Amino acid sequence: MPEEIASEVSRLLEAIAVADDAAGLEKIRLEALGRKGIITAALKSLGGLPPEARRSVGQEINSHKTTLQNAIEAKAEILHTAERDARMKAEALDVSLPPQRVIAGKLHPISQVIAEVTAIFADMGFSVAEGPDIESDELNFTALNFPPDHPAREMHDTFYMADSPEEAPMVLRTHTSPVQVRALREYGAPIRVIAPGRTYRSDHDMTHSPMFHQIEGVMIDKSTHFAHLKGCLHDFCRAFFELDNVPLRFRPSFFPFTEPSAEVDIGCSRQDGRLIIGSGADWMEILGCGMMHPNVIASGGLDPAEYQGFAFGMGVERLAMLKYGMPDLRPFFDGEPHWTRHYGFPALETPSPARGLRI
Ligand code: PHE
Repeated sequence: MPEEIASEVSRLLEAIAVADDAAGLEKIRLEALGRKGIITAALKSLGGLPPEARRSVGQEINSHKTTLQNAIEAKAEILHTAERDARMKAEALDVSLPPQRVIAGKLHPISQVIAEVTAIFADMGFSVAEGPDIESDELNFTALNFPPDHPAREMHDTFYMADSPEEAPMVLRTHTSPVQVRALREYGAPIRVIAPGRTYRSDHDMTHSPMFHQIEGVMIDKSTHFAHLKGCLHDFCRAFFELDNVPLRFRPSFFPFTEPSAEVDIGCSRQDGRLIIGSGADWMEILGCGMMHPNVIASGGLDPAEYQGFAFGMGVERLAMLKYGMPDLRPFFDGEPHWTRHYGFPALETPSPARGLRI
């Protein structure tokens, strides 16, 4: 029996030497040292030996057991190290490669257009002002020269705040124009500000969303006049649409807070359903504007006999759709990652008229 065991042990030692993974090694360990392994069987058979042989054969079996245990442990250590080395190699970073930018998020076109418009007007000396989304009826309408019960209040499809006091109702602002008055009250004159922000009207279809964005612009000084407004908007449109020449048409219009008032159309044409800005026989409305009404200047705490100014307001979604050829308004607010990936902009670039609005 000792010879048999010795040959089994050397067979197992060879198997241990060539084992190349932990699972293979475990099989050998069970064969050698497990409950049904050769060492256990040999120890069990000791009882059948004459008492004088038991001691020496027992010692021999135990030494085989130790040999096998040591060999298995040593091999396990080797396999473990090899496996760790392989994993480290697979996960290695080549730090000698130039840094690679992995930017997963994209800027929403609304944010991009606001950044572009802000950059263009900043270049013309305008700073940015803000007002709250929940605005007083007073600033949204009354201070802007909307007479009480004037139908224009209904035209705006206003959302009224349910729990605001009847004598001083609060609304979700229907336009960014209340910031005209806020800015005058806060900064006085002369002033040049734009005010981007959210606006709300109870209106929802293909081309209207109940929440949308506007950018207001105001300039007031002692001799600001309509030609300044025209020049400013011309410069803006050239810069924004990145075209040397953009035909603009000022069409007479009405707003309670400007006099005279105009709507501005931009020259365009359609080819195979595609809109081409800057040339052609068609016109597309892009904004409302006018000379600030004296009552609004007075609401702002200035003397309309001393100061005069212009104001304009434009829809951000509309600008985005025109500039970037986006046919549908509705997906703007669906939060669909596919859409944002397609229409979004690199998140870490700042538009600047000098360097380019888009990178
Ligand atoms: N507030 C107007 C609107 O929402 C736009 C506008 C702003 C017109 C400033 C004139 C001057 O339609």
